[in-house]
Amino acid sequence: MANGSEGGGGPAIENYYLEERVFEPSEEFRAGAVVGDRSLFERAEADWEGFWAEQAAGLDWFEPWETVLEWDLPFARWFSGGKLNVSHNCLDRHVAAGLGERVAFHWVGEPGDTRTVTYRELLAEVERFANVLKGLGVVRGDRVAIYMPMIPELPVAMLACTRIGAAHSVVFGGFSPDALRDRINDAEARVLVTADGGWRRGQAVALKGNADVAVEGTPSIEHVVVARRTGEAGGPTTMVEGRDHWWDELMAGAGPDCPAEAMEAEDLLYLLYTSGTTAKPKGIMHTTGGYLTQVAFTHRTVFDLRADTDVYWCAADIGWVTGHSYIVYGPLANGATSVMYEGTPDFPDKDRWWDIIETYGVTILYCAPTAIRTFMKWGTEFPERHDLSSLRLLGSVGEPINPEAWMWYRAHIGGERCPVVDTWWQTETGAILISPLPGITACKPGSATFALPGISAEVVDDAGEKVEEGGGYLTLTRPWPSMLRGIYGDPERYRETYWSRFEGRYFAGDGAKVDPEGYLWLLGRVDDVMNVSGHRISTTEVESSLVNHASVAEAAVVGARDDTTGQAIVAFVTLRSGEDPSPERGEELRAHVSRHIGAIARPRTVVFTDELPKTRSGKIMRRLLRDVAEGRALGDTTTLADPKVVEEIRRLSTASPTEE
Ligand code: WT7
Repeated sequence: MANGSEGGGGPAIENYYLEERVFEPSEEFRAGAVVGDRSLFERAEADWEGFWAEQAAGLDWFEPWETVLEWDLPFARWFSGGKLNVSHNCLDRHVAAGLGERVAFHWVGEPGDTRTVTYRELLAEVERFANVLKGLGVVRGDRVAIYMPMIPELPVAMLACTRIGAAHSVVFGGFSPDALRDRINDAEARVLVTADGGWRRGQAVALKGNADVAVEGTPSIEHVVVARRTGEAGGPTTMVEGRDHWWDELMAGAGPDCPAEAMEAEDLLYLLYTSGTTAKPKGIMHTTGGYLTQVAFTHRTVFDLRADTDVYWCAADIGWVTGHSYIVYGPLANGATSVMYEGTPDFPDKDRWWDIIETYGVTILYCAPTAIRTFMKWGTEFPERHDLSSLRLLGSVGEPINPEAWMWYRAHIGGERCPVVDTWWQTETGAILISPLPGITACKPGSATFALPGISAEVVDDAGEKVEEGGGYLTLTRPWPSMLRGIYGDPERYRETYWSRFEGRYFAGDGAKVDPEGYLWLLGRVDDVMNVSGHRISTTEVESSLVNHASVAEAAVVGARDDTTGQAIVAFVTLRSGEDPSPERGEELRAHVSRHIGAIARPRTVVFTDELPKTRSGKIMRRLLRDVAEGRALGDTTTLADPKVVEEIRRLSTASPTEE
């Protein structure tokens, strides 16, 4: 992207993972593979709408729906006419069923402090906080922004919103003030719920400080609620009279009872922003009845949940969709007991994760391949000195898991008794769509196997023709209850992004391969969205940030394959005349992106170059940059305006890259 002009590149199937993903299961593996009861699939195939209605009937409805599905492509309405409340389904009905003393969350803070929250306690806090929100003027239909660390107050705030019919927009605590401000403004949130700070690798991150900067540019925010977490450790917290309020003080003054609003099945439940191929993030819209139906169903079936005995741990952050669906809504709707952990795997030491599993007797572990590969790098000594025998099921999510990591995970963490479920889904899909079902699907390590009951996934070629065997684009051929209902404020972009590339199909943006037995192998994104440790970051967003820097003339960003993080961000930067490349300048640019978007978007490598490889029409050829970044032989260079440019870049990038 040039300073002040447009860049970009057309989509092409990228086979990042293709070579290493051709995995032939051994005879032994085949012999041991269980192919169990397929009746769930058969029922769903016979009548998929009826199948979803059956699943929805597992929830408490205040009023029954009139129609299961109204489908006016690409706009779906599920369970129209039905009324329900999400917090009622996640809390009240379990307490009413006598499960009030069941633990909802075993919470572990990064410094090692702990809290146990039962369903009864969670309900009490949610009712009180719902009254706090009402007291601040929040009414049904409003949006509330939430910018918090992984503390119990975060699910409390989300559930309180659902109780009174306000939609939440959770912004990941690692995002910068700019990113927070843009998301608040897009949603026009009236209230922001945050904390004084959050712990990150022993440091107190000043969330309220970030929030203060963001709120300077958010005319819609009337009140800021601040939970106490880090205290003075993160420096003093400034409270603006009349606007800012301490969580505990408001709670102390709020009433204990708050009835759950009867919401329409299609009322907005939440917005969650995800990167697109432009710099503007998309506010993905999820609604009430279909979403809760499908997250509860998938959480139950994919993890083979036994709610009365399982201790389930999803090690994601609630700032992402994984946490929304599989820390908060799915597990709570099913009355499950979860572990919730504030920290990262590598702090305070390499034993923390295994300590948690041992202490709480975790039975189901759900995490990302990037974490698994990190553990592989550290070696088996850490898991080996802990008793992990409580584990009975392992899950993976966020990016393709390579067969080696899959097998290591099962051999060294779960043991051979544990099925591994590799679960494919997206912020947009709301719930897991492709995954093995334990005891039912025979696995191949590295393959997410098949679409779940009720879901129809097909791989198609460029022309949109179904591919029976081989590579292509992953599409979905029918609507599903937890599908996104749109992009907030931009129905056209919704149609354009997801439903226009292949007629009548949802295009997921991922490449996939079908093997001779019909197994699906995910190949990664085919657009300009990178997948760094399971976080989606758009190349354009990082490029815009770079060209915002006064020294930068032009920048092109690619995701290069990385053994640990899946992809790593590599930036090719041309400086303005008069500016000189130096390691310090590289550092400065990395820090600039980090400040602007967040640390997750900081380029691993900055390569300075006098020119970027372009086609004669002026398009940056990212494919070639990716070849360079991944140290591959160059692909076709015939369309390049100046073929010498790439060789020069290759020389520069091997000579003196700025790297961590
Ligand atoms: C993208 C969605 C799903 C929650 C976390 C990410 C990639 C996700 C898998 C998997 C291969 C996967 C895809 C997808 N992805 N799960 N099991 N195998 N790739 O949510 O940020 O919306 O990203 O993550 O590329 O499109 P997200």
